[in-house]
Amino acid sequence: MAATDFLQRNREQHLEELMDWLRIPSVSAKSEHKADTGRAADWLADRMREAGLQTVEVIPTAGHPVVLGEWRGAPEGAPTLLIYGHYDVQPPEPLDEWTTAPFEPEVRDGNLYARGSVDDKGQVYLHVKAVQAMLADGGRLPVNVVFCVEGEEEIGSPNLAAFLKANVQRLACDAVVISDTTMFAPGLPSITTGLRGLAYMEIRVQGPSTDLHSGAYGGAVVNPANVLARIISQLHDERGRVNIPGFYDRVRELTAEQRQAIAALPFEEEGLRKEVGAPKLGGEAGFGPLERIWARPTLDVNGMLSGYTGEGAKTVLPARAMAKVSMRLVPDQDFHEVERLFIDHVQSLAPEGVTVEVLALHGGQPWHAEGGGPVFDAAARALEQAWGRKPVFIREGGSIPIVQAFQETLGAPVLMIGFGLPGENAHAPNEWMSVENFQKGAEAVALMYEELR
Ligand code: BES
Ligand code: MN
Ligand code: MN
Repeated sequence: MAATDFLQRNREQHLEELMDWLRIPSVSAKSEHKADTGRAADWLADRMREAGLQTVEVIPTAGHPVVLGEWRGAPEGAPTLLIYGHYDVQPPEPLDEWTTAPFEPEVRDGNLYARGSVDDKGQVYLHVKAVQAMLADGGRLPVNVVFCVEGEEEIGSPNLAAFLKANVQRLACDAVVISDTTMFAPGLPSITTGLRGLAYMEIRVQGPSTDLHSGAYGGAVVNPANVLARIISQLHDERGRVNIPGFYDRVRELTAEQRQAIAALPFEEEGLRKEVGAPKLGGEAGFGPLERIWARPTLDVNGMLSGYTGEGAKTVLPARAMAKVSMRLVPDQDFHEVERLFIDHVQSLAPEGVTVEVLALHGGQPWHAEGGGPVFDAAARALEQAWGRKPVFIREGGSIPIVQAFQETLGAPVLMIGFGLPGENAHAPNEWMSVENFQKGAEAVALMYEELR
């Protein structure tokens, strides 16, 4: 096919371009990178224009801009696909754990190392290249395409829901296509049918007005660090279940068929254990690791801060203690409701002698879809052609806060075809994307368009 030939011929060039984009540190969480996120958006808009998209705009929001690119040259009545992704990246810290600098991309052993390589610039860019390949030499796409690439996914997409609502007409589509997830195993193409939701909280415990000598006052003053530890220790029971009243009320249990489908996947617990490097895996009793990650809600401390943590010993009774706590949610939990349950429960655990403040930082709804439909089926066939294996249907434990909103606001089904791989170090030092997956992903997307002809 002409498009796959184009992608193979220009392989090196496309990789070089992606590396240019990766050099722009578009860290959405940090205001010092405000100009960089803008530059990353402009860079993408320029490449979209070169790819042959007809209308490309960088649209400001209250936060970082949205890049919108449209090609609407398909025959009358043809469907429209909306391609969503994000050009913002996570902060690269801790820097000293990177083998090469996070914003100086390098290929080693067939993997492209850089912050944002797989999450999500590489996966967005392969879509741009697939469209370019289809349009090259006077070619056409069988469907209209609209790219919607945001710069705030990694901070919870605070402005995108409003953007969708304000642009429902323009973004109207028959399906949303997203590449921002991972394949189940190398060489095994995967379609993701579920993501967890998220409720991200902060607990602040304040005791005395200042740090105190732990000998001179300890025992007579309530210690905020002790209190926080005690609160956190009560948030799970002995079976690893979340101990917040009402937390499981809306949880949809896995059906027998769903459990069988998960059990049929080629998965070794020991492989996962090795991947994470922990002495043993653990979690909610009665479920296997994939069930726990994909279909069970969880509560995890993400960070804690209190008292003296420097070298040696310092006898001090800290004035305050803080913890960041996130909960991953599954259908049909609602993150607003879970935030409320968490706040009320933590407040009920607060003893006298301290003040406890609980804040909701951000959240997103869980998503699950049965799949099926013309775009879904075309993608399955295209993935099979590209990898020579039928795709597996998986869920993932991560969250993309806007996915459920796409489905609700635009009324379109969401297709998730991810090209990451296990161990890709997203959000961690030494993030990488397989160069082969970047290439094959672009070819698979072009084949999907061909299948829709
Ligand atoms: N691409 C990820 C989502 C993801 C992670 C999908 C793992 C599949 C597996 C996305 O960029 C992400 O990191 N989402 C955040 C949510 C956000 C509000 C910070 C997450 O899941 O923590
Ligand atoms: Mn992502
Ligand atoms: Mn991410």
